[in-house]
Amino acid sequence: MKKIAVCGKGGSGKSSIVALLASGMRERGYRVLVIDSDESNPGLYRMLGFKRRPLPLLELVGGKKKVFRTFSEESEPSQNVLTREEIPITDIPDQYIVERDGIGLVCVGKILQSLEGCACPMGALSREFLKRLYLQGDEVAIVDMEAGIEHFGRGIETSIDSVLIVVEPSFDSLELAEKMNTLATEVGVDNTWTILNKAMSEEIALKLRDKLHKKGISVIGSISYDPEIFESGLEGRPLHGSMGERSIGKILDQLL
Ligand SMILES: Nc1ncnc2c1ncn2[C@@H]1O[C@H](COP(=O)(O)OP(=O)(O)OP(=O)(O)O)[C@@H](O)[C@H]1O
Ligand SMILES: [Mg+2]
Repeated sequence: MKKIAVCGKGGSGKSSIVALLASGMRERGYRVLVIDSDESNPGLYRMLGFKRRPLPLLELVGGKKKVFRTFSEESEPSQNVLTREEIPITDIPDQYIVERDGIGLVCVGKILQSLEGCACPMGALSREFLKRLYLQGDEVAIVDMEAGIEHFGRGIETSIDSVLIVVEPSFDSLELAEKMNTLATEVGVDNTWTILNKAMSEEIALKLRDKLHKKGISVIGSISYDPEIFESGLEGRPLHGSMGERSIGKILDQLL
């Protein structure tokens, strides 16, 4: 349970749950590294209470065009920290990590321009970084994945030991969760669970649980619709939600 990926349908609440997990784990005494692996959405650093984003790891390898060459087997030995076999958190250069109260954030890369080409190099960089990331005893990494299932195709989960699938109350979200559960198993992830998010009533949460149960998918817990989380998201403020914080506590009790 060292490297956890949070995935799910677009808008289901992945980033919010990453922020809740990060502070919940911190409270339990872990040092947390959050990895922003979403190449589109800009705001995870705000949810986590940082003033700015770190420079993207993509710049550390010299940009998108250099990623595949940097990690290819024929590449020349290099001084680049990202090509080391093991990368402890303390080896990440200062500009590429922001840290506060035992929570660190790194960002793989963001799409900046039109016509800049596909985001596959960022997927490859996420995979290679996670593979090499060396975590000490009390350290955990939580990865905020991009929406949908393309990251499974890019093999990012091959470097992950646990997958949390966020399910919101919608048919599509349930359908996607089933697909993700299968894909995670196929790539050999040991632990896969779903977290229900944004259910407006206990009745809806039960309905979702029941549907997932029938599909043979484990539910580790649920976070109901929390107006405080919604408000933080609306205002672009650090994520706060007392209901969400309590629920994530119960989820962590099981997860850890
Ligand atoms: N439990 C909750 N209660 C109320 N609002 C929530 C809850 N979880 C998330 N939200 C809101 O839902 C919206 C989407 O959340 P978030 O950005 O975390 O989703 P996401 O899955 O990361 O989205 P994306 O796919 O775009 O990355 C935000 O406005 C957020 O504030
Ligand atoms: Mg997000």
